[in-house]
Amino acid sequence: MRRILLILLLVFSPLAASAQDADAGRSLFRKCAACHALKPGPPMRAGPHLDGVVGRVIGSLPDYSYNASLRSAGRAGGVWTEDRLSHFIQDPRAMFPDTKMNFAGIAQEQQRRDLIAYLRTIAAGA
Ligand code: HEC
Repeated sequence: MRRILLILLLVFSPLAASAQDADAGRSLFRKCAACHALKPGPPMRAGPHLDGVVGRVIGSLPDYSYNASLRSAGRAGGVWTEDRLSHFIQDPRAMFPDTKMNFAGIAQEQQRRDLIAYLRTIAAGA
């Protein structure tokens, strides 16, 4: 019996951990919410909405006026993988020097991971 409990614990604890990450990410998203909606539709904020952004083609929303470098990264087939998102959020201008995302960046890797875990739950329609 004890062994079964241990196995259950081992199987489910990573799930519990990622739920916590997403929770932490939800409060971190306050840093982004002034400029980003989570869903499409009005009112349009300063930045593009982030619904389904993990795995989305870079600079690809048809009704948003991106900087040229994001548009061309997307046209070249670039996709927002978790790694790319993490680098961008760490220091947007290091990836796209001319980006109009006026954001200093999040230095802590764990915080960036939590935020991306949260953005993933949005993509899942949660
Ligand atoms: C001051 C406003 C502002 C803040 C704060 C901000 N962003 Fe942005 N963001 C923008 C703008 C404007 C763009 C469009 C960039 C361009 O075209 O150069 C953008 C673009 C993006 C993109 C690219 C989306 C796409 O469709 O390719 C992602 C991803 C993103 N932001 C994530 C975030 C996250 C996550 C945060 C919070 C940690 C954040 N942003 C904070 C304004 C902001």
